[in-house]
Amino acid sequence: MRLDVYLTPGEVVPGALNGAVVAVIDTLRASTTIAVALARGARAVIPFLGTDEVAERAHQFERAEVRLAGERKMLPIPGFDLGNSPTQFAADTVGGKTVLLSTTNGTYALLSVQGARDIVVASYVNWSAVTSLLRTALRSEAHVAIVCAGQDRHFALEDAGCAGRFVRSVTRRFGDVTLNDAAHACALLDRKYGDNIQALFHDSAHGRALIAAGFGDDLAACAQMDAFPVVPVFTERHIVSLGPTLTR
Ligand code: MLT
Repeated sequence: MRLDVYLTPGEVVPGALNGAVVAVIDTLRASTTIAVALARGARAVIPFLGTDEVAERAHQFERAEVRLAGERKMLPIPGFDLGNSPTQFAADTVGGKTVLLSTTNGTYALLSVQGARDIVVASYVNWSAVTSLLRTALRSEAHVAIVCAGQDRHFALEDAGCAGRFVRSVTRRFGDVTLNDAAHACALLDRKYGDNIQALFHDSAHGRALIAAGFGDDLAACAQMDAFPVVPVFTERHIVSLGPTLTR
């Protein structure tokens, strides 16, 4: 059994994730926002790198069917319906809608994962739900990998801490699991912060930047352990909830 953590998408060498079961983490805030949107009834979330791609794709839908969402430098994108604050994705805003999402790090990380067997979106708000899927994969001897979105292609403390939470929960009571060094380091980070996720977020550069930009409430929203128990699966360029319509 093997579990690897990649601290940034750039650490993933081509082919390294072929056939793997991959969890992508951007806990502040994209992966949290995706879980919240699906839990609140969005039909799907479609990730994009560029804002032009979002605008172009929106033309393929009835305007009332879609919500344009995302951020640049943490701020909502002009002309879009929503930013990237999970608190904005209420059921009466995204229920039954397709969310077209573009963010700085999270959507980039998702779109950079190539060759994987399964790609799921992970955060603290859907921790247990994703843990059970990854444990099933590990038990079936699949290569499990966690890819952190990071911040502007660099290490992000909050993603590493969250990855550490998954390393510990996914490997718990499994005898012989081979971890790479990043997985060991992340597990140590999670041991240090334990359930004080807000302290982790406050120690992180991006957490402090969000507070300075007026998005301090989002730290609490992103720290709500298991508040949105969905398993977002990235398949055919759409992120949908694992469930009766989509099984693994
Ligand atoms: C990202 O994807 O870059 C982050 O989620 C940015 C943010 O929302 O603050």
